[in-house]
Amino acid sequence: MSHSSHPLDDPAADPFAVAADAAADIARLTGVEQHDIALTLGSGWGRAAELVGETVATVPATEVTGFSAPALAGHVGSLRSIRTSKGKRVLVIGARTHYYEGHGVRRVVHSVRTAAATGATTMVLTNGAGGIKASWKPGQPVLISDHINLTGDSPLEGATFVDLTDLYSLRLRDLARSIDPSLDEGVYTQFRGPQYETPAEVRMAKTIGGSIVGMSTALEAIAARQAGMEILGFSLITNMAAGIQTTPLSHQEVIEAGREAEPTISALLARVIGAM
Ligand code: HPA
Repeated sequence: MSHSSHPLDDPAADPFAVAADAAADIARLTGVEQHDIALTLGSGWGRAAELVGETVATVPATEVTGFSAPALAGHVGSLRSIRTSKGKRVLVIGARTHYYEGHGVRRVVHSVRTAAATGATTMVLTNGAGGIKASWKPGQPVLISDHINLTGDSPLEGATFVDLTDLYSLRLRDLARSIDPSLDEGVYTQFRGPQYETPAEVRMAKTIGGSIVGMSTALEAIAARQAGMEILGFSLITNMAAGIQTTPLSHQEVIEAGREAEPTISALLARVIGAM
């Protein structure tokens, strides 16, 4: 689909109607009428899909209304329908649109709204992110307990007042900790990116209560909550945030940390989803 014909670029479009169209595409292309759980795979989490259950269908994201080709190497552009051993239907979203791509927040949260339109009531959001907390090490997964949205933007339009208390479900965090009691948690601080933060910005994030820095999940979580979903968030700490680690940050380093941690964190994620 060419950029100019993107259905969400028309300001008159109803983003929920576009999501409903996308959900209908998914039902048609996968043969699965309804999904229970949706899972967005960020850097390092790509292998989880294979472990969650049996893949029923894989669909290129470009065949689904409103989805774009991935902007980034290391991000897979497909949607998968998986059946867990308990019979739950999991929609795996391997095609994230980042805010920094500049296509607007409607396109950023389209996958989340589509997941909700497929019937999913649980949204599992994963990402690769920088760590602020001194005891953390690159390669470590942490739970997201809350977020600070520094993008200055929102997926909500008009006077849409949505409660964000317990946005990252305590029930689901406890479920994850019942699988791995060593899981720590932290406050995800979303910057616009795509530049990594300055050391001063990381100090600011720490001062205001952040412990994870990233460029994706907060806006998606808000849209998921608006859609009434229960949310679980995981960050893979791919690097220590700028100024905490003294060496320069690179996308290569993020990808490599993800690749190394992938088997462990994918297995963890699959066990948590299997317990849902
Ligand atoms: N900052 C923001 N986003 C990131 C980082 C980081 O340090 N690492 C991976 N994604």
